[in-house]
Amino acid sequence: MAHSTSRIPGFYQLSPADRLAKVIELTGMGETVQAHFADMGNVSPEAADTMIENVIGTLNLPIGVATNLIIDGDEQLVPMATEESSVVAAVCNAARQCRASGGFHTDTSTPVMIAQIQLVEVPNPEFARLKLLEAREQIQRICDATDPVLLQLGGGFRDLEVRVLDDMLVVHLLVDVRDAMGANAVNSMAEAVAPSLAAWSGGKSQLRILSNLADRRLARARATWHLDEIGGEAVRDSMLSAYRFADVDPYRAATHNKGIMNGVSAVVLATGNDTRAVEAGAHAYAARTGQYRSLTHWEVDAEGNLTGTLEMPMPIGLVGGATRSHPTARYCLDILGVENADRLARIVVAVGLAQNFAAMKALATTGIQKGHMALHAKNIALMAGAEGEEVAYIADLLVQQGTVRVDVAQAALEKLRNA
Ligand code: MEV
Repeated sequence: MAHSTSRIPGFYQLSPADRLAKVIELTGMGETVQAHFADMGNVSPEAADTMIENVIGTLNLPIGVATNLIIDGDEQLVPMATEESSVVAAVCNAARQCRASGGFHTDTSTPVMIAQIQLVEVPNPEFARLKLLEAREQIQRICDATDPVLLQLGGGFRDLEVRVLDDMLVVHLLVDVRDAMGANAVNSMAEAVAPSLAAWSGGKSQLRILSNLADRRLARARATWHLDEIGGEAVRDSMLSAYRFADVDPYRAATHNKGIMNGVSAVVLATGNDTRAVEAGAHAYAARTGQYRSLTHWEVDAEGNLTGTLEMPMPIGLVGGATRSHPTARYCLDILGVENADRLARIVVAVGLAQNFAAMKALATTGIQKGHMALHAKNIALMAGAEGEEVAYIADLLVQQGTVRVDVAQAALEKLRNA
């Protein structure tokens, strides 16, 4: 059903409560819905209103804490925000199974982000390319002048690349952004330096924006799962076969990498970072050879244990954006106890690797539905009218019988109540 109008002059200037009232009026929804949206939980209307435009409410997601992780020798609790069941449990299980071998070992590159400046109508691009490379020091001065704070913190312009693409020149500014995600810093530099680049190249500048293919800002995790922890050679070999499938087939790789991102994005979201930036970087990186492949690599070590590695772009920060303005994100960072973006990146990539291990193991053994079924069965039991202790009893019964259906749950509930 279409709305009577979507033209609401001055909507953006209203308070969240007044905007909500307007939407309720236009949609004909009642007081219950209005009260639901008006309850903004642990994000104040004022805070929400400064994060995005036209706010009328907030969306609560569960935050679960992943346990059992050892990362670079330190025990680590990890808050994860996700709507998907089994994601948190998967990380806990995978992390438990590699504790005996020391957990996750991680590493990062320097936090270098790339800004791109597109120059068009350059008469002689190859010639101009060399001129721009020669102007490196001037370019550095202009870039660094835009962000003295970053400079004080040890970051700033690091290098310059100039690519000739068809009739365009594309300049890359490589910038060490320290603890920031870095989009604001590099976008400001790109905008500040673009007029000079245009003048020196004899062309015009057009786009000036960061690249989400953040392949100079990588995070790496590796871990070993002992053969006895994973249930023997047959399971290990099925997992390796699952990995090979993902590595040669983009249809499978998309799902395999989606599983990795189940873990990665849940931590990125819980800490108020930009999930889309990390996701775009991950998928572009997975396709960097020209074929979309697995982000992880799985092998067997000399003792027959399963070893896994994950290397991917990790453009996340601790300063700026929702990491500071969203109270829950701030407290999630407190739970993590991280002091810099580097440690956060290491944690996120370890969680991604754990997630992939768990998904491959489930797929190679019982299949993915078994884990999902336990929660699904609880929902079905509730739908059938089960209350209190009845819920777990009926859910267990459904899982045991292998038929998770409302009619079966209702019959079982009736029998239980009559007994
Ligand atoms: C589900 O959200 C994620 C999986 O499909 C990942 C995978 O297939 O590897 C289970």
